[in-house]
Order: sequence, then structure tokens, then C-alpha cells
Amino acid sequence: MSISTVVPNHIAIVMDGNGRWATRRFLPRVAGHRQGVESLRRCVKACSERGVAVLTVFAFSSENWNRPPEEVSGLMELLALALGREVPQLKKDGVRIYIVGDRSGLSEKMRAGLAQAEADTAQNSRLILNVCFNYGGRWDITQAAARLAAQGEAITEVSLDRAMALSHVPDPDLLIRTGGEQRISNFLLWQAAYSELYFSDRLWPDFDEAALDEAITSFRRRERRFGQTSEQIASSPGSKIAA
Ligand code: IPE
Ligand code: IPE
Ligand code: MG
Repeated sequence: MSISTVVPNHIAIVMDGNGRWATRRFLPRVAGHRQGVESLRRCVKACSERGVAVLTVFAFSSENWNRPPEEVSGLMELLALALGREVPQLKKDGVRIYIVGDRSGLSEKMRAGLAQAEADTAQNSRLILNVCFNYGGRWDITQAAARLAAQGEAITEVSLDRAMALSHVPDPDLLIRTGGEQRISNFLLWQAAYSELYFSDRLWPDFDEAALDEAITSFRRRERRFGQTSEQIASSPGSKIAA
């Protein structure tokens, strides 16, 4: 099988391992999350340089509310702080931000901050950065179905897909999870149906450009069949990468 040089159009990442990174250094967990923001900045730049069109990251799950209150409030503060600090540069770099998730559980101040970050970068188109915050795959499917039901619309694969929180981007081609665990943890349950999965033992703060390139190299070796046979794929080379 030939190895393609194609870059995944859409990369999704479960940024896991911040807590362990901090604990190994005898630091509070929130220090790991702060380092995680540094890693994300580096990853956004690297994706942009490699021609990735969409980067979707899992920053806070519906289930992360179950963490100790000081960690939850630390994560809330960090998002607000990071957006305030990073948006001017992201704006210059052509990055368009979407905050994806259930905003009803967030404070009014927080909601205003998220809307501002989106508005400030709305003209950009070089890289779309979806930050999934207070997001869960089950929440997403449920809110989409509830919306269609409320509008009296039939629920089909197409209508449901359009009502999902990530309907503004195509499905992820490559889904990376750092931190060693091999599970989805309620991330993109619907959208990852045909994503290539890649698990890295690196903790998120240690996931650098070389680690990203390894993931992309692994992706290039995969044969995406989308239900077809290998022979069918081989006879129509154009269909190999349906990005
Ligand atoms: C991922 O890192 C970030 C969030 C869930 C917010 P963790 O905080 O889960 O780090 P570990 O898994 O405990 O090391
Ligand atoms: C998934 O990581 C959520 C984020 C990275 C935001 P978790 O650390 O919450 O996942 P579990 O609890 O190990 O499954
Ligand atoms: Mg974790």
C-alpha cells in the first residue's frame, strides 16, 4: 500500500494527562492545566503550519463537573483567562474560534466572554479551532434530537447531523487521545463514526510537534475503507481519502 502525503483535514484531540503531568512534579493539578494551555497554543500553530483545516479539542467534559470544586473553578477561570490572553494572537494568525458545548451551565460572565472570542475571530478562515467545553457526545445527540422534535422535524441522519453542535465542520479524520487511556470518554460519539483513532502515551503537556507528526504519519498509513473492501479502494485511488 502506498503511503499518502495527505494531511488530515480535521483533527480532534482528547487532551488528557494534565493532572498526572502536574502530580509527577509535585504541583497542584491546575498547574498541569495551565501547562496544557501552552501545549494547545503550540498544537494550534503546528496544525496551521501543516495545513490542517479544523482542530477540535476536548477541554472540559460534561462529566468533569464531578471533579473537586477547586479544580472545576480553576478550569473555568483558566478558560476565561486563556481566551483573554490568546485571542489577539489567534486573530492575527487567522484562527477562527468556536466554543462548542452546553453554555446553559456556565455563568453569564463566562458566556459573554465566549461569545466575544467567537465574534473577535469570526472573520478568520485559515484554521477553525473548536474548543469543546462543557461538552459531551450524549449531550450533543440529545440536544440535536430535542431541537428537531421541538420544531416538529423528522429525525433522519441528515437532519440530526445538521442539528449537532459541530455541524459547521466535516467529521474528524483523525482522533487523537493523549495520556495513555484508550477510550472516548463521551467525546464526539456521533462524529467519530469513521475517524481514525490514535492513542499516545504522552501526557498532553508533553505532546509536541514531533508527537503530532507521528500521529499524522500513522494516519497516512491507514486505509480508510468506509465499509468498502480493500479491492474496491485499490481500484478507485481517488476514493482512498474521503476527507
Ligand atoms: C485532561 O487532563 C484535562 C481535563 C479533563 C480538563 P486530566 O485533568 O484529566 O489529567 P489526568 O488524566 O488526571 O492526568
Ligand atoms: C476526557 O478526559 C475529558 C477531557 C480531556 C476534557 P477525562 O480525564 O475526564 O476522562 P476519563 O475520566 O479518564 O475517562
Ligand atoms: Mg484525565
